Amino acid sequence: MERLIIEGGHRLYGEVNISGMKNSALPIIYACLLVKDECIIHNIPRVSDIYNSLEILRGLGADADFIERNTVRINTKNATATIKNQELVSKMRASSYLMGALFARFNEVCINMPGGCNFGVRPIEQHLKGFCCLGATCIEKDGKIEIKADKKLKSQKITLDKISVGATINMVLASIFIEGTTIIENCAIEPHVDDLICFLNKCGGKIIRKNRTILVNGANKLYGTDYTVFPDMIEALTYACFVGASNGEVLLNKVNVTHLRYSLDFFKSMGMHIKEYESKVHIKKSTVLNGVNVVTAPYPLFPTDLHPQLSALLCFTCDGGSVKDEIFPTRFAYVNELRKMGANITTIDNMAVIKPSYLFGARTDATDLRAGAALVTASLGAQGNSEISNVNYIIRGYECLVEKLTSIGGKIKLVNN
Ligand code: EPZ
Repeated sequence: MERLIIEGGHRLYGEVNISGMKNSALPIIYACLLVKDECIIHNIPRVSDIYNSLEILRGLGADADFIERNTVRINTKNATATIKNQELVSKMRASSYLMGALFARFNEVCINMPGGCNFGVRPIEQHLKGFCCLGATCIEKDGKIEIKADKKLKSQKITLDKISVGATINMVLASIFIEGTTIIENCAIEPHVDDLICFLNKCGGKIIRKNRTILVNGANKLYGTDYTVFPDMIEALTYACFVGASNGEVLLNKVNVTHLRYSLDFFKSMGMHIKEYESKVHIKKSTVLNGVNVVTAPYPLFPTDLHPQLSALLCFTCDGGSVKDEIFPTRFAYVNELRKMGANITTIDNMAVIKPSYLFGARTDATDLRAGAALVTASLGAQGNSEISNVNYIIRGYECLVEKLTSIGGKIKLVNN
């Protein structure tokens, strides 16, 4: 079983290149099913969710693989509607984008219920509401979802009841070839939604976002293109937590500062020194870290995907703080793991309350992707050695974590025994 071994107490110092954003590379990969032509996509992180998604595309009959370190070539002209490796679909939330992509191309799709990090229910009623609004029939049976349209679809107005990244993305994909202008209201505006829109428009789409309303003008055909994925904002903000926990000073290269700005303001209020450059941000932990109280919300506010990491960082502050998760109210499995390291952390409903804590190395289990990142944060600042198991969760979302941390002075290794 693979485990991460981290020797705490070493200051991180140097430069790190931030990878492409996993959560926008994934919808873009599935969106290639709408383009019966060759697409070359750069800045794709080498993480397991990406490998699995390329495998799913190959199972559909597409050509899809890495041709360079972080560049994939995808050509789905020979793809069919039949998913061969349904077991992979159940492993990831992102495979839900197959619903929108295959529906748009074949007017039908039958897939396993998508998986995803196990921090509570991951409903898809907003997705299905949108498909029904477009005129499709949606049937959930035996753990599968079947979506079909028997007639030519007309453009509609879809109003999502909740701000949902996945439902927004699926509605953009599903409506791309529908004649007229499909209007999608109450959309998510995370950068990964805009990344997908930019990709589809570069392929010949005519999609316009006006704040939380997206207008999808139906395209007759999309054409292959060469595209570069946005930088990963959550990876960058996670490294800011690593720096804070380790008294570090690190320059993060290849970032999009605009995407980070709101969250970086919280780090500034904690006393961290943040200097922004065009596509870089210099982060330095000050002598003392102040606590902060945060409530997660849809972009551009504080991201739920940084909640566990911030909770770990708050252990190292002089006065503690709290993180209230309004997006995923049960995303607290990491709390018990931090307690194993001596964290003084309690939960009240959907809020973690963290007091200043003396953390010591311990054996912990990553319970999901960002929980794993929280344990790495805590381990970097703890006294002594820590071991984190279920590393598969962590490497599904953080490219070259061991190499990157080692390059800036982290004492971390991956062991398999
Ligand atoms: C995406 O998940 C991300 N996953 C998540 O990142 C991220 O936490 C989330 O967006 C919010 O930013 C990927 O991009 C692969 P949502 P998604 O639909 O699309 C509720 C990570 O760590 N909801 O925006 O599944 C839902 O329960 C992962 O990288 C419904 O109620 O999230 C949640 O409370 C974890 N019904 C809220 O909306 C629906 O039909 C936001 O969910 C859909 C969502």
